[in-house]
Amino acid sequence: MIVKGCIFDLDGVIVDTAKYHYLAWKKLTSILNINFTKEDNERLKGVSRMASLDIILEIGNVVYDDKMKEEYADLKNKWYLDYINRMTPEEILPGSLEFISELKNAGIKVAIGSASRNTPLILERLAIRNLFDAVADGNIIIKAKPDPEVFITAAKMLGVSPADCVVFEDAVAGVEAALNAGMRCVGIGSEKILTTAHYVIAGLDKMSLKKLKLLAKF
Ligand code: G6P
Ligand code: MG
Repeated sequence: MIVKGCIFDLDGVIVDTAKYHYLAWKKLTSILNINFTKEDNERLKGVSRMASLDIILEIGNVVYDDKMKEEYADLKNKWYLDYINRMTPEEILPGSLEFISELKNAGIKVAIGSASRNTPLILERLAIRNLFDAVADGNIIIKAKPDPEVFITAAKMLGVSPADCVVFEDAVAGVEAALNAGMRCVGIGSEKILTTAHYVIAGLDKMSLKKLKLLAKF
């Protein structure tokens, strides 16, 4: 394959927002008297806001109606936004900017493919919106990862066929979504967790155009 498009998940790939999600969920779970740990937080990676709340309520063995759930999800997001609004470009994960500019110089299109509805705000806070040729996020997507919708939409926006795209993802559901889209997937994190990715690296600082081209050969 010849790589024509690269699609990046945002949370956990370009920026570490998991710590802010954790702090905001922690505030909510302390009010709801639910014992929520950092290990539990791992289960929320790549999972939509409401699906995350469902997992948390299941952990706490409590049930709320949809109206209460909306209220709690809104409350959590309000606290999350307090952290996000204070983010600066210094929080961009190492190697991201360098790798993305290498891609752009080589004429490869780049997009974001994220479940987060806060994607526009985060890109603005990090001052990187203009880097991307397209942004597919939780505001325009209906079906959550592992459904391929977000990546298929990103590829369409780029005008690139899915078979010519490589996805960079840190969540198991995201890797599955990339494979379901018929794309190559580079996992960001641990090989032990992201077992189905075509290749796994610890972070984008371990990636280069040269490596990407090698990868595309297999
Ligand atoms: C990403 C994160 C998840 C988060 C989801 C929705 O996929 O990995 O942890 O729940 O986005 O984020 P939002 O900003 O819309 O609440
Ligand atoms: Mg992620």
